[in-house]
Amino acid sequence: MTLATHDVRWSAGGHLIVDGITLSVEPNRMLGLIGPNGSGKSSLLRLLCRMRKVASGVVTLDARDIGDLSRRDLARRLAFVEQQATTDVHLSVCDVVRLGRTPHRAAFASWTREDEEAIDHALERVGLTDRHDQPWHTLSGGERQRVHIARALAQEPRELILDEPTNHLDIQHQLSTLALIRRLGLTCIVALHDLNLASLFCDRICVLSAGKLVAAGMPEAVLTPDLIRRVFGVEVRIHDGAGGRRHIEYIIDGDQGETP
Ligand SMILES: Nc1ncnc2c1ncn2[C@@H]1O[C@H](COP(=O)(O)OP(=O)(O)OP(=O)(O)O)[C@@H](O)[C@H]1O
Ligand SMILES: [Mg+2]
Repeated sequence: MTLATHDVRWSAGGHLIVDGITLSVEPNRMLGLIGPNGSGKSSLLRLLCRMRKVASGVVTLDARDIGDLSRRDLARRLAFVEQQATTDVHLSVCDVVRLGRTPHRAAFASWTREDEEAIDHALERVGLTDRHDQPWHTLSGGERQRVHIARALAQEPRELILDEPTNHLDIQHQLSTLALIRRLGLTCIVALHDLNLASLFCDRICVLSAGKLVAAGMPEAVLTPDLIRRVFGVEVRIHDGAGGRRHIEYIIDGDQGETP
């Protein structure tokens, strides 16, 4: 086990937002976190990377309480791409990606060749090499999202946490970004809304509803019409496609399926 939560709770505004969640991700596997808006996905991810402190329970990295690790040690292991990441508007693309190198550098040290290579490699991986010097504020929403992923990659983490990384991305970049994340072979927890993408790319899926973990397992075992109806209130049909891939078809009100 690398990253795990044990009966973790977190409250805000007088409400229990994360309600006793126990989960873990296997090394070098991709765990998908799904659930309706407001079900607690982002809150849980913030607990996992210690941006928020648990009210009870414990988050562990290699069986150690992450509260016992220094910020720097944690940042050398784990990178987080937020749902709505913002940054200083005066920065350029490479400045933003450079921020990912902070945990690897001694205070006041000059930039090393290794730092520059990590930055260039990260930008190459998200297909933004030619935007190296572009001012951040001139980027499109999807380009900003990819720069934040590059920043996380420049951090060279072993654990990667992403909160809706496909937000703002066109379909080609949704697919290429998830394929890239998968190819990296890191231990990864990713919140996703698209059930088909979650099913296609994730090894395991955890489903949140009103702050509780209501299902966990392989995509085909978890993403059943019954669960999707109960958790999302949506009717679906599941189709078996080529290569064992499944496709979830959403049934719109009044659409009763194929005509006889
Ligand atoms: N600091 C806070 N104060 C009060 N309520 C909060 C706070 N943070 C989160 N919440 C509430 O907790 C609930 C869960 O929020 P969270 O952002 O974790 O949901 P989510 O599953 O990520 O949703 P989405 O799919 O919309 O991103 C929401 O109802 C939200 O309003
Ligand atoms: Mg969220």
